[in-house]
Amino acid sequence: MKKGVRKAAITGHPVSHSRSPLIHGYWLEKHGIEGEYVRVDVPPETAEGFYGNFADAGLIGANVTVPFKEIAARACDWLDDAATAMGAANTLWLDETGRLCGANTDGLGFLGNLDQLAPGWDNNPGTAVVLGAGGAARAIVWALISRDYTTVHIVNRTKEKAEKIVDEFGSGTVAHGWDKLGTVLAQAGVLVNTTSLGMTGKPPLEVDLSSLPENALVNDIVYSPLQTDLLKQAAARGNPAVDGIGMLLHQAVPAFERWFGERPVVTDELRTLALKDLGVIT
Ligand code: ATR
Repeated sequence: MKKGVRKAAITGHPVSHSRSPLIHGYWLEKHGIEGEYVRVDVPPETAEGFYGNFADAGLIGANVTVPFKEIAARACDWLDDAATAMGAANTLWLDETGRLCGANTDGLGFLGNLDQLAPGWDNNPGTAVVLGAGGAARAIVWALISRDYTTVHIVNRTKEKAEKIVDEFGSGTVAHGWDKLGTVLAQAGVLVNTTSLGMTGKPPLEVDLSSLPENALVNDIVYSPLQTDLLKQAAARGNPAVDGIGMLLHQAVPAFERWFGERPVVTDELRTLALKDLGVIT
């Protein structure tokens, strides 16, 4: 590393699969910024020490992958609202006094994607349905509440996991097992799949959309394939449908701006680069 060059990294275990170096590298070049974005593998047994002594790593900031987002959040001296609500940080930086700060930008990534591809989607926030109850679901529930959605139904195979999110987010969120899907879809203005179902190599996502209002927005965070069966089914009946690659790209926007001082744009060129790199398109 050249002296004085601002360096950020994707940190976690493993990090070899991460597309973050491609995304931040693209923007560093576009903005002509003399910075670096590298991969730092953090063996699990060293994670507490690594994030606890982050200032020693020689980085101005970092992204954090599963499974260290919670450890990273605990190591922070300051957390933004989203990271506080989720107890998990995916973006870290050192402030001018050397304090470790953490944010969770996954929910902002979800919002940035819909704002770009379906502007006005949240003009009349009402009821949303989220399929799944993992980390991505948590971020999306936070994001929908931040845009004033009054009711967020969380539908999951394991109802207890949905109930855990309801315990965290409180009134306005409702937990259901899969059997209630048809009923809650009838009230939905937004439907988001956060499960891994429908992803290449995973079982299909079998959802009957017949009760879903025709103007409801459908978003799938699965991006491999890009046009999932859910999105195809939604588009075929006239629902606006937005694919998921943009969430991955948009979650990186606030991080890049924080570290390198310029707000980057998610361009079609970047979408294509990422999809090619992922092998989703040729
Ligand atoms: P992430 O943190 O990326 O959101 P995750 O925590 O592994 O990922 O969550 C995966 C989601 O997909 C969960 O909601 C999971 O349901 P369970 O909580 O019941 O496990 C859901 N999922 C995965 N495989 C599934 C299947 N075959 N049928 C129904 N839901 C499934």
